[in-house]
Amino acid sequence: MRILKLFVLAAIAMMVFASYNTIPTHAQSGLTIGFSQIGSESGWRTSETVSIKAEAEKRGIKLLFDDAQQKQENQIKALRSFIAQGVDAILLAPVVETGWDDVLKEAKDAGIPVVLVDRGVKVDDDSLYLTKVSSDFVHEGRLAAAWLAQRTNGICQIVELQGTIGSSAAIDRQKGFADVIALFPEMKIIATQSGDFTRDGGKKVMEAFLKAQDPKTICAVWAHNDDMVLGAIQAIKEAGLKPGVDILTISVDAVPDIFKAMADGEANATVELSPNLGGPAFDAINDFKAGKEVPKWIVSTSPMYFPATAADEYAKRSAK
Ligand code: AHR
Repeated sequence: MRILKLFVLAAIAMMVFASYNTIPTHAQSGLTIGFSQIGSESGWRTSETVSIKAEAEKRGIKLLFDDAQQKQENQIKALRSFIAQGVDAILLAPVVETGWDDVLKEAKDAGIPVVLVDRGVKVDDDSLYLTKVSSDFVHEGRLAAAWLAQRTNGICQIVELQGTIGSSAAIDRQKGFADVIALFPEMKIIATQSGDFTRDGGKKVMEAFLKAQDPKTICAVWAHNDDMVLGAIQAIKEAGLKPGVDILTISVDAVPDIFKAMADGEANATVELSPNLGGPAFDAINDFKAGKEVPKWIVSTSPMYFPATAADEYAKRSAK
């Protein structure tokens, strides 16, 4: 009997030990990580914040969150405060590309790895950050232009709604789009202006475009994000035109509202930018801490979506 009891106790102990060992290592992380977020200019940005916070919680990471309200100086202050607090790592979603060398050097000197999430930076020495977790914005712009070229047989006068001036997302999407339309002599950008990645900005700029030229000459609006195109759709409707028919739309992000607009016949296509960047960013930090090699760019994919699947996608995504 005693032997049987000992056997049962040993078996229970082995099971407890085994289950303890199968807890993923990230769940035991106990790291403190600072996250400097740009702000909440778009639906996509809000989803990214929610997703990164949830991923941190799931992994037992203490996340120090700072909302920079679109200001680089606030991001620099937040980074300095994270460094002073001796965090284990920093996530940075940089509002613009340039002006980061000094503060990144301070983080590096303090031995704190910095992971760029979503947008990139231009620095003299790229060892100042550990890795960048983002999609390829140039590729997104190329995909958008290739779809428009195919949809219009390469004949289209386009108005462009740019994202935040100086941001890698705006610079690279503009470049990728321009690269492709340069191959089609009858595709031209007839007006371009920043709507700052906001719905309100997109609406105001589109209103100005519609006043400045005969709306019949505008074949399509290319927006660096869905929120701006959703604002533009409103402006097109208020001008008495049909968005998605009289003026085609193409944008980036794949937020739930663009699927609603596509299902309603008011938008034509979007390129998806995944907001779920926390998982790969935290994995990279864990790998770095474990002495493993971390690639300099962890690229997410950019699928495109069209009206045919929009109602289903909207149902799936708005239920989350
Ligand atoms: O940097 C990514 C861009 O920033 C998203 O496309 C946009 O919606 C956001 O505000």
